[in-house]
Amino acid sequence: MLRGVAEDRSYGERLEYSDNRSGSRIAMRFVLVTTNKGKASEFSEIFREYGFNFRIEPMATPEIQEDDLREIARYSVLYAYKILREPVLVEDAGLFIKALNGFPGPYSSYVYKTIGVDGILKLMEGVVRRGARFESALAFYSPLTELKIFTGAVEGRISEEPRGRGGFGFDPIFIPDGSVKTFAEMSLEEKNRFSHRARAARKFAEWFKTLKTLPPIYQD
Ligand code: IMP
Repeated sequence: MLRGVAEDRSYGERLEYSDNRSGSRIAMRFVLVTTNKGKASEFSEIFREYGFNFRIEPMATPEIQEDDLREIARYSVLYAYKILREPVLVEDAGLFIKALNGFPGPYSSYVYKTIGVDGILKLMEGVVRRGARFESALAFYSPLTELKIFTGAVEGRISEEPRGRGGFGFDPIFIPDGSVKTFAEMSLEEKNRFSHRARAARKFAEWFKTLKTLPPIYQD
């Protein structure tokens, strides 16, 4: 951990296991870099299921202008790694609305900050076909594994009006297929049964758990 970089262990749980050969303590761990508390909670719930040893680093990373979320996540994770020098996980996500030709897509964060939920609903006024898709691209980097990308998506539709008080971002106007609720009307556990982020996170988790058989990244 570099000096001067903020550290927030509130979400992370430390899990260590013994190396029988040396008797020393080994921790396979990684840093999830995000300033978004909603994302942090959603990831944390899934990573706890797996018993992973991770912590949250609320560090802002640059978002390059790119159509492909995977490229944005790739740039961000390498940027974060250069500063933190620890195995790092970063996510880039976006909402793609079919009637708007995929807008706001990779610009979701900027669009949320500028026109927000109400602005999107205005653009959708009178639009009957309200299909939309959330996508998540997760990038992991460590010198041992090099760069790995995991993606997840969920199809759904844009509601006629905002509903619910949970979640964050565009959650009040997104209804995933298979539900009548918006993401904001769901509990965290329920959102994680549908969401793009949970799907990408589980793909990452299934892969990451296999690393326990590889040489440890850290030895304490
Ligand atoms: P980011 O660039 O990955 O931080 O996310 C882009 C923007 O997409 C966020 O600021 C949110 O407005 C929106 N977004 C991403 N994922 C979600 C989600 O799960 N629910 C609601 N909005 C989301």
